[in-house]
Amino acid sequence: MKKFKRHLITSALPYANGPIHIGHLAGVYIPSDIYTRYLRLKGEDVIHVCGSDEHGVPITLKARQEGVSPQVIVDRYHELNKKAFEDFGISFDIYSRTTAKIHYETASEFFRTLYDKGVFIEKTTEQFYDEEAKQFLADRYITGTCPHCGYEKAYGDQCEQCGSSLSPTELINPRSTISGSKPVLRKTRHWYLPLDRYEPFLRKWILQDHKEWKTNVYGQCKSWLDQGLQPRAVSRDLDWGVPVPVEGAEGKVLYVWFDAPIGYISATRELTPDWKKYWKDPDTRMIHFIGKDNIVFHCIIFPTMLQTEGSYILPDNVPANEFLNLEGDKISTSRNWAVWLHEYLEEFPGRQDVLRYVLTANMPETKDNDFTWKDFQARNNNELVAILGNFVNRALVLTNKYFDGAVPPRGDLSDYDREVLEQIPLMRKRTGHSLDHFRFREALKEAMALARLGNKYLADTEPWSLIKTDRDQVATILNICLQITANLTLLLEPFLPFSMEKLREMIRFGETDWNLIGGSDLLPAGHTLGTTSHLFSKIDDKEIEAQVAKLQATKAANEEGEKSDLPPQKEEISYDDFMKMDIRMATIVDAVKVPKTKKLLQLTLDTGIDRRTVVSGIAEYFSPEEIVGKQIAVLVNLAPRKIKGIESQGMILMAEDPDGRLHFIIPEEATENGAQVR
Ligand code: 2FM
Ligand code: ZN
Repeated sequence: MKKFKRHLITSALPYANGPIHIGHLAGVYIPSDIYTRYLRLKGEDVIHVCGSDEHGVPITLKARQEGVSPQVIVDRYHELNKKAFEDFGISFDIYSRTTAKIHYETASEFFRTLYDKGVFIEKTTEQFYDEEAKQFLADRYITGTCPHCGYEKAYGDQCEQCGSSLSPTELINPRSTISGSKPVLRKTRHWYLPLDRYEPFLRKWILQDHKEWKTNVYGQCKSWLDQGLQPRAVSRDLDWGVPVPVEGAEGKVLYVWFDAPIGYISATRELTPDWKKYWKDPDTRMIHFIGKDNIVFHCIIFPTMLQTEGSYILPDNVPANEFLNLEGDKISTSRNWAVWLHEYLEEFPGRQDVLRYVLTANMPETKDNDFTWKDFQARNNNELVAILGNFVNRALVLTNKYFDGAVPPRGDLSDYDREVLEQIPLMRKRTGHSLDHFRFREALKEAMALARLGNKYLADTEPWSLIKTDRDQVATILNICLQITANLTLLLEPFLPFSMEKLREMIRFGETDWNLIGGSDLLPAGHTLGTTSHLFSKIDDKEIEAQVAKLQATKAANEEGEKSDLPPQKEEISYDDFMKMDIRMATIVDAVKVPKTKKLLQLTLDTGIDRRTVVSGIAEYFSPEEIVGKQIAVLVNLAPRKIKGIESQGMILMAEDPDGRLHFIIPEEATENGAQVR
């Protein structure tokens, strides 16, 4: 294999429209972190870049649902996710974001270079347009009836009932989700990357030159190539994203999958002025860690962009993982079927390494895999506690007890002693070999074999019995156990960084050099140890039952929600968010229909604070006469809005049935106007 001078590790930029869950960790960030830590231990020149992917339609949709700007959404999740990664020891050298100024510059420049080289083809096609909202509609902004199964709420790109992928023009009775109006087809011009022209290059580069890629990755690439590639639009009609840097492209932005991978470059630029050596020197080895849904973008589209730009290197490997399921079901953000990192930390504080360990042991490397709480408990109790923790604890406690916490000298070695010491460098080799080939589950097993060996050695030699008859031999045994312990801090560091740091403190060992593994004198005789404490502790049945019950409740709520057609519960808000709302009791003192509208009534309210006008969309259900005199609840500090030329100064609170019927919320007994509702 080619010897590289340095490594550039990238981890897929997660969308900043939701929190991070265990599926993200197991699929992308734990393997990339283990790999980067391993290279750092080996003393390689390596950087690990990541950041938030902050563009794309789902983010604008979420913003619209919440009535805030997309920036508010991405700011929220960027901070939350950045912290979650830090909390779990995912050691990025930089966690940037695609709304950063440097990213806008980098992405625009990149597009412009390809544009100037004449790489793109320009095409005019017809797409759905919302005449009321005056904008083109991305697929997700269009709903209608599925032509395959008749489901009435299918999206423009997919029917969630029967799973068919759709194009918006196939929908029966299409509707804009923005205004509810019927969209019309309108001509629009876009730029396309003609992937078909680069097929010969891609075939050679992947199918011939990268036969070593993981079979799941190689197989997916081959099937894309065999189906024949099509030109792909790299721009969109949207007002959220990097503007297309070409004259006459107002209202158009770069397609999120064009700008996101360029985010790796922007992040590196933000990290170091020396960024070019990581991106443009063929002696750099670039590796993309991703999940399987990102394969085509990282193996076909982004490499084509890099290749046509001309001055960049291509990835040397793309070790994509498959998906992790949770208790037998697909992880889903919208169904809340996930273990969220921030929640895990609240419930299992200080136990990041346990999750790292379990997710590595079950990593979906070659096929989808399942996370279960029972397995989580078993691996913690039977492996981390009973093997690793138990071995280290006994070695340290016995040294404290018999030798005052100082490393005893090693005397003559038995054959068994020698065999044990000889195993250690072999374990380094095997673990390293597995890591070199991105086989993380196997690597963890190889590394844990050293803890198993230590545990067995102690059980076989029984220093606690031997101490009565042969103190010198006990000194030798414990010396060997302590060498094993020091070796463990190095061998397990990439997998269990928090615990190994703690263990290094416990034995007062500061080295972090992979090549020392195998050494039998890492701790010299006479070296005094630090304070011993437990590395891991048991997780009892109650804790696991609580987690299982939580998931069962989610499942029940989902089933209930599906049956009743009720919208799912909105995202959690803080107490402070709630307290921002000023809701008061008020009496409707006058009501008139707003001329030329079907739905609107103009109400005059006595809010106790003042008399004010509120425009309300209730005219289809209530006549002005029947509501005058009613006492109702009104949100008084909502920013005023002009509706049909009338300034509406608040919003009355109504209950809405799934079928859209409205009901007043009326107090059981009349209260004073202005009374606060909380
Ligand atoms: O699938 C995703 O979550 C994307 N946000 C990954 C982007 S990776 C890269 F290209 F930035
Ligand atoms: Zn369908």
